Amino acid sequence: MVKKKTCVFISGTGSNLNALIKNSRSYNFPVKIEFVVSNKSDIKGIKIAKKFKIPYLIINTRKSLYENKIIEELKNRNIKIICLAGYMKILSNNFLNKFNGKIINIHPSLLPKFKGLNTFNRILKKKEKKTGCTIHYVNKKLDSGKIILKKEFIISKSDTVDSIKIRTQRLEHVGYSEALIKILRNN
Ligand code: GRF
Repeated sequence: MVKKKTCVFISGTGSNLNALIKNSRSYNFPVKIEFVVSNKSDIKGIKIAKKFKIPYLIINTRKSLYENKIIEELKNRNIKIICLAGYMKILSNNFLNKFNGKIINIHPSLLPKFKGLNTFNRILKKKEKKTGCTIHYVNKKLDSGKIILKKEFIISKSDTVDSIKIRTQRLEHVGYSEALIKILRNN
């Protein structure tokens, strides 16, 4: 199968990057991770890119400048899909227009609930019965694009911020790949 050239944008641990790279190695998986973009240098995610010998770009200069550089790299590398995985910068409308319908994100809640940051704290405070993760297309409104897939689990009385983070990420590492298969299977 012809795999779509994909770039993952990160800002931190890169555990979703790790899972995507591993899953993308299987024969039938619809994407190949060809490039990583990060706005931080000293992060675990970059070590993962290095370990798997995936080219990466670390860039954190002024917005217009850095986005132009990223766009140039993505075009040169013929990147067709962008997976945001913990990327902490807001992308400009110009960037979103250039890759319209090609950018997806993973969020650690069951959207539309708990958009934004500090999700796990807020979920526990609200005494939610269940939570999980959502993979969605990116549009101009934060965490509001069309939902591709959600995965959920039941919160137990003993759960803490740390434990629901672990449980959520366990689902993320499967869910992101399932979402890519779902949107690209018939392409
Ligand atoms: C994930 O929990 C994702 O939902 C959120 O940022 C986190 C990134 O984690 N958007 P990692 O860097 O992939 O480990």
